[in-house]
Formats: sequence, C-alpha cells, structure tokens
Amino acid sequence: MNSKFSTSNNLWDLVLTDSLDLKQLDIDSFRQIGRDNCRLGTWDAIDQSSRYYKSLLYSNAENIDRQILKSELPLESKKNGDGLRYYLKNIRNQNIGNPPTVNYFNNEISIDYLLSTEEMFFLDDVLKKSKTVLEIGAGFGRLSHSIIQNFENIDRYIIVDLDEVLDLAKIYMSKVLNEQEFSKIDFISHKSIKELEGNVRIDISINIDSFQEIDESVVLDYLQFISKNSNYFYTKNAIGKYDPDLVDIKLKNNSQIKSALNMGLCKDIINIFDSNEIQKARLIYLERFCPSNFIVSKHEACFGQYLYYYSALYEHK
Ligand SMILES: C[S@@+](CC[C@H](N)C(=O)[O-])C[C@H]1O[C@@H](n2cnc3c(N)ncnc32)[C@H](O)[C@@H]1O
Repeated sequence: MNSKFSTSNNLWDLVLTDSLDLKQLDIDSFRQIGRDNCRLGTWDAIDQSSRYYKSLLYSNAENIDRQILKSELPLESKKNGDGLRYYLKNIRNQNIGNPPTVNYFNNEISIDYLLSTEEMFFLDDVLKKSKTVLEIGAGFGRLSHSIIQNFENIDRYIIVDLDEVLDLAKIYMSKVLNEQEFSKIDFISHKSIKELEGNVRIDISINIDSFQEIDESVVLDYLQFISKNSNYFYTKNAIGKYDPDLVDIKLKNNSQIKSALNMGLCKDIINIFDSNEIQKARLIYLERFCPSNFIVSKHEACFGQYLYYYSALYEHK
C-alpha cells in the first residue's frame, strides 16, 4: 500500500470517535441530507467530491457504448468500448482545457465528447448525407469539432453565436482542427444570421442546451429561419423549468433565477424527477420546438447528467 496510507488505526474506531456520535442521533431526521446516515452509509445526497459526477459519466459511457454496439454501424470489432471508439478515435485533441475524465475500456471520456458521441450517434444517418450544417449556440465547439472530424462529407459548418463566445470557439477550434478542417467553418454573429437568408441551403440545423436560455421571441425567429432554410432540425434542450429547491440549490442571486425561468419555449415549472410530469412535458416540448412545415422524425430521452433534456429530430415536410 502507498506509504501515505500506511498507518493502520481501525477505521470504525476513528469514525465513531471523530465523525459519528450515535448516542446523539435523532431518529426522526438522521437520514436527511447532511445528517448522521451520510457517514453511517457511504453517501450523502449533496457531496463536495466528484464521485457522483464521475459515476454518472462512467454509467452514461457504458449506456451509449452498449447502444452503439447493438447498432448496425460498421464497427471493426464489438468488444466493450468499441462502440464509443467508433467516433472518439477520429476526434483529435479532446483534452484541451484539462477536463475531468474516466477511463472506459481505454477510451478517455470527458463529458463534452461523450455528449457529442451521443448526438452524432442519434444523427448519424442525416449527418452522413449532409454537406452543410448550421449550429446555433455551439459554445466552445465540442460538437462542431466532433462532427467535422467524423463526417468528412460535410464541407461547410456554420456556427452562429454571441460575439464573445465566437471568439472563444475560434481559438479552441484553431487548436483542435487542422487548417483544412478549420476552413470549413463560418463563424457568424447572432446579429447577422439574416444575411444567410436565401443564400444557403442547410442540410441540418442543430441547437443544444441553448434555446432554453434565450428569449422566446429570439428562439421563434430562429425556428422561422430554420423552417425556411433547413431540411432537418435537431434540438436537445430542457423540457421545462424546475424550482431550484428541488435539487437543493441555494442561489443568492434571485434575478438570475427569475430570468432563467422566463427564457425559452418551455416555461412550465415541473418536477424533473417525476415520470408523470416528464411524460407530459415531453409532448409539449415536441410541439413547441417543431418549426412550421416540419414533422417529428425521431425522438428519445437523454441519459446521464441530462435526464430532463430531450432529443428530437424534425424533418421538412
Ligand atoms: C450552455 S451553452 C451550450 C453550448 C453547446 N451547445 C454545448 O452543448 O456544449 C449555450 C450557448 O448558447 C449561446 N447563445 C446564447 N444566446 C444566444 C443567441 N441569442 N444566439 C445564439 N447563441 C446564443 C451561448 O453563447 C452558448 O454558446
């Protein structure tokens, strides 16, 4: 054993003297968050460590890997980890920014590229036949990076975002892509999207984790643009709002909560951990995100960290 841990007191002697006084335990509340049971057991609902995050990341990796292994994709072999590897092996420089990772059968997994893998798998059929992609609100560019290095058939990738975030995406993408890949991207300010109108035929438009944070009227403008200029639309956003108390968030800044509750297309406050409420909210979501003259092509629940998000692909009628 590592010498750092070599002194050997009996652990439970230490626990019962240092951190758990069972004589003082209150039987009516000992299982509440932060009370005695969090030391009697090995968990607490609120944890300062990265244990839950990494457990979910690992579990989500396993879930997506299994789905890909069961699919018709032309995998070289079908061992654990080969499903994720189908996409991840093509994405160079995944660790810029130094994210926390887990090792899933020799795939080094970070949340960003795991989510990108889930999204590419869901969209594989459409991406394979696409030439032009529009991504609205791409953040630093995890999905753009992943798609460009996995689907060589795509020759134009348009990113529309806020100017400050576009600057970050330009720096990030110039580090992870080679020159020829980088030249496929058009970085367009959210103020200038109208300039694209009528000048471009987009195969698929993508919005992830973003319309839910944007003013409703702006989102409706984007949906109108998509309806006129795109063949497919993919959304992965939250199906509703939730009360921060539900997940024991104690926010100090009430104005941010109020603003967040007012953004996007799905503003009903729901219990995001109640299947009945989730079912109803998903139906409303599918209807609200549908651009005019589009129909739902396929949809599925999200897993891991994003249970109250929903994936939906719409197709022009
Ligand atoms: C939470 S991030 C999600 C980033 C990325 N889609 C992902 O999943 O990693 C939200 C993104 O929406 C962008 N955004 C906010 N307002 C916007 C607007 N009016 N038009 C376009 N993008 C916007 C933000 O700049 C940011 O890139």
